[in-house]
Amino acid sequence: MKKIRFNIPKISNYEISNIKKLKKYNFYSSGGVFTEKCSKWLRQNIKCKDALLTHSCTAALEMCALLLNIKEGDEIIMPSFTFVSTANAFVLRGGRPVFVDIDANTCNIDPSKIKQAISKKTKAIVVVHYAGVSCDMDPIIKIAKQHNLCVIEDAAQAILSTYKGKPLGSIGDLATLSFHETKIFIVARAGHYLLIIQNLLKEQKL
Ligand SMILES: Cc1ncc(COP(=O)(O)O)c(C=O)c1O
Repeated sequence: MKKIRFNIPKISNYEISNIKKLKKYNFYSSGGVFTEKCSKWLRQNIKCKDALLTHSCTAALEMCALLLNIKEGDEIIMPSFTFVSTANAFVLRGGRPVFVDIDANTCNIDPSKIKQAISKKTKAIVVVHYAGVSCDMDPIIKIAKQHNLCVIEDAAQAILSTYKGKPLGSIGDLATLSFHETKIFIVARAGHYLLIIQNLLKEQKL
């Protein structure tokens, strides 16, 4: 049976020439010239105060959970249809995802169903801009303000998409993007992971 790959990333000569530049800069992981270039590009294009690079969108979502100080029993409202990291990031800290139905037309959280999901334990609303299609942010921000809740935009699939002229990722209190190879822009990072696993294997921790 012929297998069809889910996606095949396109790597051009431009990327290859940038990879070669790493030798010149002598920086192969984080904190180098390309990290700074990427953060600057994100600040300018997403129009956010700051953009910090993590090794994945999953890690960025986990940092959101840490920044919100999510504890056992805290509730986080999110769409019932998303990638598992959206929920896991909070569950790992004891949080309880409260799933809200999606709008069948957009596959995004249905803002009209959020209010009824709010309880005394609710800490945040996580929205997912599915496939780059924006959530209807105005009513979501309004509800969040009324109930003093943080809004996190999981914009993993939505870099450079907009809502009423505003870049997605610039509307909530925090936002996350993904550069996984299935996304709009990608970065290679497999080598780094592999090294960590090898080190753990050597120390017999795995
Ligand atoms: C909505 C959503 N959130 C989070 C992620 C996780 O992204 P990453 O693979 O960069 O950790 C994905 C990846 O598919 C996603 O689609």
